[in-house]
Amino acid sequence: MKQPLIAPSILAADFGNVRSGIDTIRNAGGDWVHLDVMDGHFVPPITFGPKMVADIRGYTDALLDVHLMVDNPERVVDVFIEAGADLVTFHLEAVVHAHRLVQRIRDAGKRPGVAIVPSTPSWAVRELLSDIDLLLVMTVNPGYGGQSLIPRCLEKVKEVVAMRRDTGAGFLIQVDGGINATTALDARNAGVDVMVSGSAFFSADDPALYIATLRGDANRSA
Ligand code: DX5
Ligand code: ZN
Repeated sequence: MKQPLIAPSILAADFGNVRSGIDTIRNAGGDWVHLDVMDGHFVPPITFGPKMVADIRGYTDALLDVHLMVDNPERVVDVFIEAGADLVTFHLEAVVHAHRLVQRIRDAGKRPGVAIVPSTPSWAVRELLSDIDLLLVMTVNPGYGGQSLIPRCLEKVKEVVAMRRDTGAGFLIQVDGGINATTALDARNAGVDVMVSGSAFFSADDPALYIATLRGDANRSA
């Protein structure tokens, strides 16, 4: 089985010392850096804006995976692209013209992603599958780290895997929320390509070993 990419989220890092959080991700062998942007509307909390992304861009050459949990993402995608995001994922539930926004991100030379919350069915993304680089199937209701994975969401991942096969599309399938050493096995079995991990990553005694465990690396995991 192909090993998934791992995208630790700085949401669980110390925001007063973000560089240390980035170092932890890089030193542990994380593949991407996941950046959770929350606006206090689409989800209750507020996290950070484009300056944080630009400052992180100035510090690392890691792939910056920006997850926009914001209303009206069409108003802000440009500033996050200018800030240095590599991959820009917005929520299907937050826009009417998702297809147009996907094209705009691609025309700017960035990789477009679309996210769906647990209550959105997998078939809702059907018309976007050949246009996106990433589909984020949220495995918790977005807004907070440290929640438990909702098992039904991994069934949606399996549905998306089948839709991808049927359409011949080539996007990556990402899961985000409640990923830990136990749920990662179920996520891998469901067929995910990229796993986000926040609280379990930053509370791990050995982050490198934790990442190996998420990947299912038999030579390294505990
Ligand atoms: C939640 C965020 C996640 C969060 C995951 O809405 O989108 O990226 O960091 O945190 P854990 O891994 O703690 O569930
Ligand atoms: Zn996220």
